[in-house]
Amino acid sequence: MSSSSRTSELLAWYDRHARTLPWRVSPKAQAAGERADPYRIWLSEVMLQQTTVAAVKDYYLKFLQLWPTVEDLAKAPEEDVMKAWAGLGYYSRARNLKKCAETVEFELHGRFPDTEEGLCTLPGIGPYTAAAISAIAFNRPAAVVDGNVERVLSRLYEITTPLPNAKPEIKAGMAKLTPFDRPGDFAQAVMDLGATICTPKNPACVLCPWTANCKARLSGTAQTLPRKLPK
Ligand code: ADE
Repeated sequence: MSSSSRTSELLAWYDRHARTLPWRVSPKAQAAGERADPYRIWLSEVMLQQTTVAAVKDYYLKFLQLWPTVEDLAKAPEEDVMKAWAGLGYYSRARNLKKCAETVEFELHGRFPDTEEGLCTLPGIGPYTAAAISAIAFNRPAAVVDGNVERVLSRLYEITTPLPNAKPEIKAGMAKLTPFDRPGDFAQAVMDLGATICTPKNPACVLCPWTANCKARLSGTAQTLPRKLPK
Protein backbone atom coordinates (compact mmCIF):
# COMPACT_ATOMS: atom_id res chain seq x y z
CA MET A 1 0.00 0.00 0.00
CA SER A 2 1.43 3.42 -1.01
CA SER A 3 1.80 6.45 1.25
CA SER A 4 -0.72 8.35 -0.84
CA SER A 5 -3.44 5.73 -0.41
CA ARG A 6 -2.79 5.64 3.35
CA THR A 7 -3.12 9.42 3.34
CA SER A 8 -6.41 9.34 1.41
CA GLU A 9 -7.84 6.69 3.70
CA LEU A 10 -7.14 8.74 6.77
CA LEU A 11 -8.53 11.94 5.22
CA ALA A 12 -11.73 10.06 4.29
CA TRP A 13 -11.97 8.90 7.93
CA TYR A 14 -11.41 12.49 9.13
CA ASP A 15 -14.18 13.78 6.86
CA ARG A 16 -16.59 11.54 8.77
CA HIS A 17 -15.09 11.50 12.28
CA ALA A 18 -13.21 14.77 12.90
CA ARG A 19 -13.74 15.99 16.45
CA THR A 20 -15.68 19.24 16.69
CA LEU A 21 -13.28 21.65 18.43
CA PRO A 22 -13.83 25.40 18.84
CA TRP A 23 -10.67 26.38 16.91
CA ARG A 24 -11.24 23.93 14.09
CA VAL A 25 -12.73 24.68 10.67
CA SER A 26 -14.50 21.42 9.82
CA PRO A 27 -13.95 19.75 6.43
CA LYS A 28 -17.58 20.64 5.60
CA ALA A 29 -17.10 24.33 6.48
CA GLN A 30 -13.89 24.39 4.42
CA ALA A 31 -15.77 22.96 1.46
CA ALA A 32 -18.20 25.88 1.87
CA GLY A 33 -15.29 28.33 1.65
CA GLU A 34 -14.51 29.03 5.31
CA ARG A 35 -10.80 29.50 6.06
CA ALA A 36 -8.82 29.22 9.29
CA ASP A 37 -7.85 32.47 11.03
CA PRO A 38 -4.08 32.36 11.82
CA TYR A 39 -4.67 34.29 15.08
CA ARG A 40 -7.13 31.68 16.33
CA ILE A 41 -4.94 28.76 15.26
CA TRP A 42 -1.91 30.31 16.94
CA LEU A 43 -3.87 30.98 20.15
CA SER A 44 -5.16 27.39 20.29
CA GLU A 45 -1.78 25.80 19.54
CA VAL A 46 -0.02 27.83 22.25
CA MET A 47 -2.68 26.83 24.78
CA LEU A 48 -2.45 23.17 23.67
CA GLN A 49 1.35 23.02 24.07
CA GLN A 50 1.27 21.54 27.57
CA THR A 51 -2.45 21.30 28.24
CA THR A 52 -5.21 18.89 27.25
CA VAL A 53 -7.94 19.69 24.75
CA ALA A 54 -10.59 19.42 27.50
CA ALA A 55 -8.83 21.97 29.73
CA VAL A 56 -8.11 24.39 26.87
CA LYS A 57 -11.63 24.76 25.39
CA ASP A 58 -13.12 27.24 27.89
CA TYR A 59 -9.93 29.33 28.10
CA TYR A 60 -9.75 29.54 24.33
CA LEU A 61 -13.35 30.77 24.09
CA LYS A 62 -12.82 33.26 26.92
CA PHE A 63 -9.70 34.70 25.24
CA LEU A 64 -11.53 35.10 21.92
CA GLN A 65 -14.39 36.87 23.63
CA LEU A 66 -12.02 39.25 25.44
CA TRP A 67 -9.62 39.72 22.49
CA PRO A 68 -11.13 38.74 19.14
CA THR A 69 -8.13 39.86 17.07
CA VAL A 70 -4.35 40.00 17.40
CA GLU A 71 -4.67 43.80 17.55
CA ASP A 72 -6.93 43.53 20.62
CA LEU A 73 -4.50 41.19 22.37
CA ALA A 74 -1.48 43.33 21.46
CA LYS A 75 -3.15 46.40 23.01
CA ALA A 76 -4.42 44.61 26.15
CA PRO A 77 -2.74 45.32 29.53
CA GLU A 78 -0.40 42.42 30.36
CA GLU A 79 -1.99 41.95 33.78
CA ASP A 80 -5.38 41.34 32.18
CA VAL A 81 -3.87 38.64 29.98
CA MET A 82 -2.12 37.00 32.95
CA LYS A 83 -5.38 37.08 34.90
CA ALA A 84 -7.31 35.44 32.07
CA TRP A 85 -4.60 32.76 31.79
CA ALA A 86 -4.68 31.94 35.54
CA GLY A 87 -5.31 28.21 36.03
CA LEU A 88 -3.87 27.05 32.68
CA GLY A 89 -0.33 26.78 34.06
CA TYR A 90 3.10 27.26 32.47
CA TYR A 91 2.77 31.03 32.78
CA SER A 92 5.73 31.85 30.52
CA ARG A 93 3.34 30.88 27.73
CA ALA A 94 1.06 33.81 28.65
CA ARG A 95 3.93 36.31 28.76
CA ASN A 96 5.19 35.06 25.38
CA LEU A 97 1.65 35.14 24.00
CA LYS A 98 1.42 38.84 24.77
CA LYS A 99 4.92 39.55 23.37
CA CYS A 100 4.14 37.59 20.22
CA ALA A 101 0.88 39.49 19.68
CA GLU A 102 2.78 42.79 20.03
CA THR A 103 5.46 41.70 17.56
CA VAL A 104 2.88 40.58 14.97
CA GLU A 105 0.73 43.69 15.41
CA PHE A 106 3.39 46.40 15.67
CA GLU A 107 6.28 44.97 13.63
CA LEU A 108 4.60 42.69 11.09
CA HIS A 109 1.53 44.80 10.20
CA GLY A 110 -0.81 42.41 11.98
CA ARG A 111 0.11 39.40 9.84
CA PHE A 112 1.56 36.14 11.11
CA PRO A 113 4.41 34.71 9.01
CA ASP A 114 3.23 31.71 6.96
CA THR A 115 6.43 29.61 7.01
CA GLU A 116 7.80 27.42 9.78
CA GLU A 117 11.05 29.40 9.65
CA GLY A 118 9.29 32.76 10.02
CA LEU A 119 6.97 31.52 12.77
CA CYS A 120 9.91 30.10 14.76
CA THR A 121 11.37 33.62 15.15
CA LEU A 122 8.37 34.67 17.29
CA PRO A 123 8.24 34.47 21.11
CA GLY A 124 6.75 31.22 22.40
CA ILE A 125 6.71 29.45 19.02
CA GLY A 126 8.97 26.40 18.79
CA PRO A 127 9.34 23.87 15.95
CA TYR A 128 6.16 21.92 16.82
CA THR A 129 3.92 24.98 17.07
CA ALA A 130 5.44 26.52 13.93
CA ALA A 131 4.71 23.37 11.93
CA ALA A 132 1.15 23.16 13.28
CA ILE A 133 0.32 26.82 12.47
CA SER A 134 1.95 26.62 9.05
CA ALA A 135 -0.05 23.48 8.12
CA ILE A 136 -3.39 24.31 9.76
CA ALA A 137 -3.61 28.08 9.19
CA PHE A 138 -1.66 28.40 5.92
CA ASN A 139 -2.10 25.01 4.26
CA ARG A 140 1.64 24.44 3.92
CA PRO A 141 2.87 20.84 3.87
CA ALA A 142 4.68 20.92 7.22
CA ALA A 143 5.18 17.61 9.07
CA VAL A 144 3.46 18.13 12.43
CA VAL A 145 4.63 15.78 15.19
CA ASP A 146 3.21 15.85 18.72
CA GLY A 147 2.83 13.02 21.26
CA ASN A 148 -0.25 11.57 19.57
CA VAL A 149 1.47 11.57 16.19
CA GLU A 150 4.55 9.87 17.69
CA ARG A 151 2.39 7.05 19.04
CA VAL A 152 0.36 6.54 15.84
CA LEU A 153 3.37 6.55 13.50
CA SER A 154 5.60 4.42 15.69
CA ARG A 155 2.83 1.78 15.56
CA LEU A 156 2.00 2.16 11.86
CA TYR A 157 5.67 1.60 10.93
CA GLU A 158 6.55 -0.50 14.00
CA ILE A 159 9.40 1.79 14.98
CA THR A 160 11.14 0.08 17.91
CA THR A 161 13.84 2.70 18.47
CA PRO A 162 12.99 4.38 21.79
CA LEU A 163 12.00 8.04 22.02
CA PRO A 164 13.53 10.56 21.81
CA ASN A 165 15.96 8.82 19.40
CA ALA A 166 13.07 7.78 17.15
CA LYS A 167 12.03 11.41 16.52
CA PRO A 168 13.85 11.88 13.17
CA GLU A 169 12.39 8.64 11.80
CA ILE A 170 8.88 9.63 12.92
CA LYS A 171 9.27 13.12 11.42
CA ALA A 172 10.42 11.59 8.12
CA GLY A 173 7.43 9.22 8.13
CA MET A 174 5.04 12.12 8.76
CA ALA A 175 6.70 14.17 5.98
CA LYS A 176 6.20 11.28 3.54
CA LEU A 177 2.52 10.90 4.46
CA THR A 178 1.60 14.62 4.58
CA PRO A 179 -0.29 15.67 1.43
CA PHE A 180 0.20 18.97 -0.41
CA ASP A 181 -3.51 19.62 -0.73
CA ARG A 182 -4.76 19.12 2.88
CA PRO A 183 -1.73 19.20 5.21
CA GLY A 184 -3.58 20.81 8.12
CA ASP A 185 -6.48 18.38 8.00
CA PHE A 186 -4.04 15.49 7.73
CA ALA A 187 -2.08 16.61 10.82
CA GLN A 188 -5.30 16.98 12.80
CA ALA A 189 -6.56 13.62 11.51
CA VAL A 190 -3.48 11.86 12.92
CA MET A 191 -3.94 13.76 16.22
CA ASP A 192 -7.59 12.69 16.38
CA LEU A 193 -6.71 9.09 15.57
CA GLY A 194 -4.20 9.14 18.45
CA ALA A 195 -6.65 10.78 20.86
CA THR A 196 -9.69 8.62 20.11
CA ILE A 197 -8.58 5.25 18.63
CA CYS A 198 -4.81 4.70 18.75
CA THR A 199 -4.76 5.34 22.51
CA PRO A 200 -1.80 4.46 24.78
CA LYS A 201 -3.69 1.54 26.35
CA ASN A 202 -6.24 -0.75 24.66
CA PRO A 203 -6.20 0.89 21.23
CA ALA A 204 -9.46 0.34 19.32
CA CYS A 205 -7.74 -1.21 16.29
CA VAL A 206 -11.00 -2.58 14.86
CA LEU A 207 -12.19 1.01 14.32
CA CYS A 208 -8.93 2.27 12.81
CA PRO A 209 -8.83 3.19 9.11
CA TRP A 210 -5.17 2.03 9.03
CA THR A 211 -5.78 -1.31 10.71
CA ALA A 212 -4.97 -3.44 7.63
CA ASN A 213 -1.58 -1.75 7.16
CA CYS A 214 -0.48 -1.15 10.72
CA LYS A 215 2.73 -3.13 11.23
CA ALA A 216 2.46 -3.12 15.01
CA ARG A 217 -1.11 -4.39 14.97
CA LEU A 218 -0.19 -7.15 12.53
CA SER A 219 2.62 -8.33 14.81
CA GLY A 220 0.71 -7.70 18.06
CA THR A 221 3.10 -5.06 19.44
CA ALA A 222 0.87 -1.95 19.26
CA GLN A 223 0.47 -1.53 22.99
CA THR A 224 4.24 -1.73 23.58
CA LEU A 225 4.91 1.24 21.29
CA PRO A 226 6.30 3.85 21.33
CA ARG A 227 9.22 2.73 23.44
CA LYS A 228 10.74 5.39 25.65
CA LEU A 229 14.20 5.74 27.13
CA PRO A 230 14.08 6.11 30.91
CA LYS A 231 14.20 9.81 31.87
N1 ADE B 1 -3.29 19.22 20.02
C1 ADE B 1 -2.49 20.18 19.57
N2 ADE B 1 -3.01 20.78 18.48
C2 ADE B 1 -4.19 20.19 18.24
C3 ADE B 1 -5.21 20.36 17.27
N3 ADE B 1 -5.09 21.29 16.34
N4 ADE B 1 -6.28 19.54 17.31
C4 ADE B 1 -6.36 18.60 18.28
N5 ADE B 1 -5.46 18.40 19.22
C5 ADE B 1 -4.38 19.19 19.23
